[in-house]
Amino acid sequence: MDDNNNNRGSWSSKTGFLLAIIGSAVGLGNIWRYPYMLYKYGGGAFLIPYFVAIIIAGIPLLILEYTLGHKFRGSAPLSFKRAASKFEWVGWLPTFVAFVIMTFYSVILAWAVNYFGFAFTASWGNNTSEFFTKSFLKLSGGPFEINGFQFQILISLLVVWLINWFVTYKGISGGIEKLNKVLIPTLLVLMGIVVFKGVTLEGAKDGLNVLFTPDWSKLSDIKVWSGAFGQTFFSLSLALAAIITYSSYLPKKTDLNNSAMITAFANCGFEFFAAIGVFGILGHMAHLHNVPVTEVAGNGGVGLAFMVFPQVFSEMGAIGKVLGVIFFLAIISAGLTSSVSLLEAFSASVIEKTGVNRKKIVTIASLVCASISLVYVSGAGLYILDIVDHYLNSFLVIGTGFLEVIVVGWIIKPNNLREHSNKISIINVGSWWNIIIKYVAPVILGFILVASIYEEITKGYEGYPVKALLIYGVGTSILIVIATIVATVKKWPDNLVDDYDKFDED
Ligand code: PHE
Repeated sequence: MDDNNNNRGSWSSKTGFLLAIIGSAVGLGNIWRYPYMLYKYGGGAFLIPYFVAIIIAGIPLLILEYTLGHKFRGSAPLSFKRAASKFEWVGWLPTFVAFVIMTFYSVILAWAVNYFGFAFTASWGNNTSEFFTKSFLKLSGGPFEINGFQFQILISLLVVWLINWFVTYKGISGGIEKLNKVLIPTLLVLMGIVVFKGVTLEGAKDGLNVLFTPDWSKLSDIKVWSGAFGQTFFSLSLALAAIITYSSYLPKKTDLNNSAMITAFANCGFEFFAAIGVFGILGHMAHLHNVPVTEVAGNGGVGLAFMVFPQVFSEMGAIGKVLGVIFFLAIISAGLTSSVSLLEAFSASVIEKTGVNRKKIVTIASLVCASISLVYVSGAGLYILDIVDHYLNSFLVIGTGFLEVIVVGWIIKPNNLREHSNKISIINVGSWWNIIIKYVAPVILGFILVASIYEEITKGYEGYPVKALLIYGVGTSILIVIATIVATVKKWPDNLVDDYDKFDED
């Protein structure tokens, strides 16, 4: 049947779609988050859980989300509603998590914009950690000391939001696809330069040794596992409504399975590639300071890219300035294509549920989200960001992934999706996929979830006061659940749920 869906936009080409979906996946998660997760969890130790996570959860869920979006042709809530009426909320949950992630994602991007400016003259000086926390962020003494706004961050945040808004406002082929066609090739060239330079620096090999030496003893630490699964989801844009939404704009005949594989390899390949450059540079830093690689970054955490890297660039003289400019430009290119996909995933859901047009929804969503992101421009911003990021990625994203595999495995039934994607794909997905979706992934994700909740309750997180964890972490999570309930209860526009071009039925 011809439907209400026809004016929802589509990709103009397969390449355009692939670039956009790779653009969503490759982002700050690959250049900013992955290296510090690796670093935090002992370098090579992280690689085993990370590869396990990609195989057990990453690729199977990617196929699941691609197919769900394509078959049911809607944003996450609409796709779930059409697939299993009672489980629409499983689509709203990631939609609101995406919204919250966008609030801080845009701020990190804004920092990168500022740092791109600083890089030309290395104006972060010689003590880059102090520069980042004291002069740049004006970091306060704790998560409740919210004082002052940093105007330079505010300005770059505005720029980031203007771009997000404009591109998403322009729609799928007119905005998002065009942005990705420019930024993804640019990013590849930029990171190619950084990695090439990184591995040829003196001392680089010590950094790479840390990256490539697995530490088996870490495997018993649940934090490493939940970190690895959280990272895999975040990095592949999974359980965050984006993939479902993007694949809903695909034409009828598309190779879903192959595209899912390409996305996984492109993203994880890029991530690993970036890590090689990053660890090469860390090795060089260790060499310059004559300390072990495991000590160069102190407890850099979220600040790794903004403290340790500028330090190395400063110490490299003229070439360091060039490298700094390229590095931050790469972060901006990678991040913009991802933040746009977050905004699109959120907006598409609201557009469909309210029936209000794209331009209005994107504008309102951008204004609200940008206003909330001001929280992170305050002196306590970095603490709040760290806590919110931890709660979303360790609990809500993994929790959503868990719900997705349960609902598809036991209610929608994996075969219904697998048959759909196999029919139009060159490579077939075997019945192993059913087993992963039905049994393996739920058990592993469920276990990680329970164990990490237990760990959180007994040990807290990074020494933050319990009150801060409750307010920023648990509080945000509760707000997301409330929003999910409110959005689910609202009525759908007439006929939208049932009337759509069911690709299957001819
Ligand atoms: N995958 C993105 C990254 O690695 C983050 C992201 C998650 C973007 C979910 C969109 C949706 O940075």
